[in-house]
Amino acid sequence: MASLHNRRLQFICVKSDAVFTLPSRPVPYAVLGNPVNHSLSPVMQQAAFDHSGIEARYFRIEVGEEDLPRAVDRMRQVPFGGWNCTVPNKIKMYQLCDRRSESAELFHAVNTVVNEKGHLIGHNTDGIGWSHALYDAFGKRPGELRILLLGAGGAGRAIATQAILEKCPELIIANRNPGRAQDLLSQLNAQFHSSPFSRTQLNLRSVRWQEPELEAALRETDLVVNATSAGLDPKAPPVLPARLMPGHLLVFDTLYGSACDKFRAEAQTAGARWSDGLRMLLHQGAAAFSLWTAREAPLKIMRDALESAFSASRR
Ligand SMILES: NC(=O)c1ccc[n+]([C@@H]2O[C@H](COP(=O)([O-])OP(=O)(O)OC[C@H]3O[C@@H](n4cnc5c(N)ncnc54)[C@H](OP(=O)(O)O)[C@@H]3O)[C@@H](O)[C@H]2O)c1
Repeated sequence: MASLHNRRLQFICVKSDAVFTLPSRPVPYAVLGNPVNHSLSPVMQQAAFDHSGIEARYFRIEVGEEDLPRAVDRMRQVPFGGWNCTVPNKIKMYQLCDRRSESAELFHAVNTVVNEKGHLIGHNTDGIGWSHALYDAFGKRPGELRILLLGAGGAGRAIATQAILEKCPELIIANRNPGRAQDLLSQLNAQFHSSPFSRTQLNLRSVRWQEPELEAALRETDLVVNATSAGLDPKAPPVLPARLMPGHLLVFDTLYGSACDKFRAEAQTAGARWSDGLRMLLHQGAAAFSLWTAREAPLKIMRDALESAFSASRR
């Protein structure tokens, strides 16, 4: 058990049943995913707890969808104060919560859980985290920008939903598999059909993942968001080449580290302003911290912790 309190070993594999022997003090928090060993959330959240004088310990727990119900059941009882969910657990966690916030309902996924005396409340901070990151990077909100969104998976859906919530004037979605872009478009249209958003001037459409269509879309775009995981494949080409990107473009990549090296190089060649996804991780984490503690997150402390852990991981 001593090792569980060693800050350099904040990693438990739930299959080892270590979570079943965790003490309730310091109050445990965690990120649940598979893989999870690379997650920078523990460094950032632990720094925030320590700075705020909160007696808590934040762990990584390696668990996938199959074992999630059993792990969650035990974490409810320990009791954990709350937890984050990452790939592949966000949708399963949505189903396991006792109650869901408006954000979780809108995004159909849960990335943050608050354990209120054994009652699990699911939230989603990915969308607002992206919006704050955008403002942090470029001083702009989605409502001020015509957006081309690349990717229609979980991150793409969260970003598209947030963009619509913030009344983005134009949202164009492109996905390698065009059927998936169409599915997302249909879901968004259905979701927002009977809401006040149907009366706004949102222009929502998709284009095919082909150079002429992307180039035309980019001409009417202020911001391009890469929500694909293409950069994780070292053999994949950059999602957009420099020649398609006008110099006035803002480029936000949800990836960070070496996974966005190729795309960043293309954006910089085009003269575009660029941000990676580390800010998104920071701001979704800050929102989660506030939900757990009802306090404002110490953003500078979390950012410094994240950036130094990230730099160390790049060495
Ligand atoms: N910074 C943050 O805080 C944050 C938060 C959430 C997610 N993310 C990042 O966002 C990325 C996407 O996550 P997700 O949950 O949406 O994953 P996902 O549901 O698996 O979706 C993956 C997306 O990437 C596309 N894709 C994969 N390989 C591609 C390639 N070679 N060329 C073009 N498109 C490709 C897929 O297109 P197809 O449909 O054609 O396969 C799909 O749209 C992840 O890499 C993740 O790290 C970052």
